[in-house]
Amino acid sequence: MASTAEEIARLRGTRPASLKDLLVDASFSRLWRAMLVSSLGDWVGFVAVAALVANIGGKRLGGLAVAGVMMARLLPSVLFGPFAGVFADRFDRRKLMIGADISRGLLYGAMPFLPGLGYIFLVSFFIECLSLLWTPAKDASVPNLVPRRQLANANSVSIITTYGTLPLGASIFTLLTGFGDALGSHIHVFHARPEFLALWLDGITFFFSARMVWGLDLRQNLTAKVRAKQTPRLNFRSAFDEIRQGYRFLRDHPTVRAMTLGVVIAFAGVGSVISLGPVFTRFSLHAGPTGFGFLITAFGVGMAAGIAATNYLSRMLEKDRVFFLSMLGAAACLFLIASMPTIGLASLFTVPMGVAVGLTWVTGYTMLQENVSDEFRGRTFATLNVWARLALFVSLVAFPALSAALGPDHTLTIGSHVLDLSGTRMALYIGGLVVVFAAAAAGRGLKRSRLARPRPLGLSLRGPRKELSGVFIAFEGVEGAGKGTQIERARAYVESLGRQVVVTREPGGTDLGDRLRETLLSPMTGTLDPRTEALLFAATRAQHVMTVIRPALQDGKVVLCDRFIDSSIAYQGVARGLGEQDVLTLNAWATQGLFPDLVVLLHLDPEIGLARAKAHDSPDRIESEDLEFHARVADAYLKIADEHPDRFAVIDAMGTPEEVQARVREAIDRVLQSERPPP
Ligand code: TYD
Repeated sequence: MASTAEEIARLRGTRPASLKDLLVDASFSRLWRAMLVSSLGDWVGFVAVAALVANIGGKRLGGLAVAGVMMARLLPSVLFGPFAGVFADRFDRRKLMIGADISRGLLYGAMPFLPGLGYIFLVSFFIECLSLLWTPAKDASVPNLVPRRQLANANSVSIITTYGTLPLGASIFTLLTGFGDALGSHIHVFHARPEFLALWLDGITFFFSARMVWGLDLRQNLTAKVRAKQTPRLNFRSAFDEIRQGYRFLRDHPTVRAMTLGVVIAFAGVGSVISLGPVFTRFSLHAGPTGFGFLITAFGVGMAAGIAATNYLSRMLEKDRVFFLSMLGAAACLFLIASMPTIGLASLFTVPMGVAVGLTWVTGYTMLQENVSDEFRGRTFATLNVWARLALFVSLVAFPALSAALGPDHTLTIGSHVLDLSGTRMALYIGGLVVVFAAAAAGRGLKRSRLARPRPLGLSLRGPRKELSGVFIAFEGVEGAGKGTQIERARAYVESLGRQVVVTREPGGTDLGDRLRETLLSPMTGTLDPRTEALLFAATRAQHVMTVIRPALQDGKVVLCDRFIDSSIAYQGVARGLGEQDVLTLNAWATQGLFPDLVVLLHLDPEIGLARAKAHDSPDRIESEDLEFHARVADAYLKIADEHPDRFAVIDAMGTPEEVQARVREAIDRVLQSERPPP
């Protein structure tokens, strides 16, 4: 059993999404090291600040002081969270992350010298604002950093890194404070602040993170560069407008809305377990004082397993199914746990509940990254970040309150059975109901978007690929990259090797194709709906493959094609925003699974390319799109090439035609050598 995406990826020769590949990827491993070290530091710092203010507050005010820090950490979510998203969409995310890291490092470093509680609250507030900038900038960058198929893995790694470092962080804190205490008796300034070492360590981890992020290549470069030049200056009013646009996007996009809701509810679920757990284990399950720790550990273990299993599972089942089913699964487990008489039985369902929550979390994140275009991604993740925190906070307060309001002692007698219906159990049932409603709402939203999605109508693959003895080479690139010249030179070269060559192009290559080319490219056609455009390109391609390309390949010829499927993915899927997977699925059907053996990608800065193209001819309908559109195409090509290292040859088109030709020749030699000799 495999998902559609997985089947097509296999046909297309997409690099498999293994965890090892992800972790050795130069860019992701930099981000990962940054996350690992700074999350660890963050937990150390989190505990250290709480200990510091408790210390300063003393016996009488210590508890209040800790509550104050928590407030100072929560308040920025409400006040600043939405703006953080606008920043993450507006500015260079890499610079934003570096700036936030350095500032947090400095603020933590200064913490031991602050004169009073008020200052510490203020600094905590600012640190949290900076974290609110960093996190959505990171979440929004991940899709630019790793191939699309690695997103689930990347999210699993990122979530486990962020939260899994908590226990280690707490132990490091204990060690450092002991050491700091000893030092404090020698160094007077630190006498009252034994936490200073822990705080400084946290500061240093942020500098390390900044150093790692510095070296990142976020690969949104061309598009971001163009957009930065075009967008008007940011002011208070325009920021509000952009926040509103972000919310509108979220509201109007059923998949995005469903995913956000799901992740937020998953957080509330975690909140209900944490807040009701202690009372539930003690009084409803009659477990000893260690009962709660046991339950939470079981939950944590399950969650880690769920998070780790997402990528594997989503290869077999569509992600929206995984998401919906895991939400329902979590609710079912919550009901079961709430009904159990003993801790042993309850813990049996705590592990699967953790698994379900972990699955919901990662699939939700991954689907958001897949479905939200780069320009809205910062805001979407900022919103998610804010709502998830609020949901966690509200459920931490609301569930115990609900349980108290319902009262501790209710029983229901059915025959000789006495059912214990304490307030805690009832509150857990209500929590389960909320999850069921949320799952139903998410399921409805997803169904609506699924109905609208083109599904493959089956690939009957006229004979397996290996029966086609020819070699299929496509040339791709932005406008003006010089494909035409290079294809002619490639033809002469391949013919000189004694092979028969067919040169063709898309749209075109057949009578119908030439007629549709006229329509598709003529400025007189005006604006086409993106779907119409994608279908027309796919229609010409279907005709082209069946009547020209396949027969030529069957005869053992070498086909050189000016543009193919990857044009549709870059232009319609990415630049027009239809979604890569949908356009890929449509085209896999149109070509019945035929993909090129080699794609020669002539890479060029689109600004230079457009100028070249326009110098030759008056611009056609697609060339007339703005520079940002073409930058998106260029970025998309590079990402596709990244996912298909064996199939793509990325060639810098800036050189002289002879230099470029030499590189194209190398790539062609490689693919011809690996082919069987012609019959
Ligand atoms: P192009 O190949 O650049 O021809 P010329 O160099 O003669 O202008 O023109 C084809 C245009 O069609 C180009 O702008 C890209 C666009 N296109 C798509 O948007 N999707 C597709 O699937 C294909 C094949 C082309």
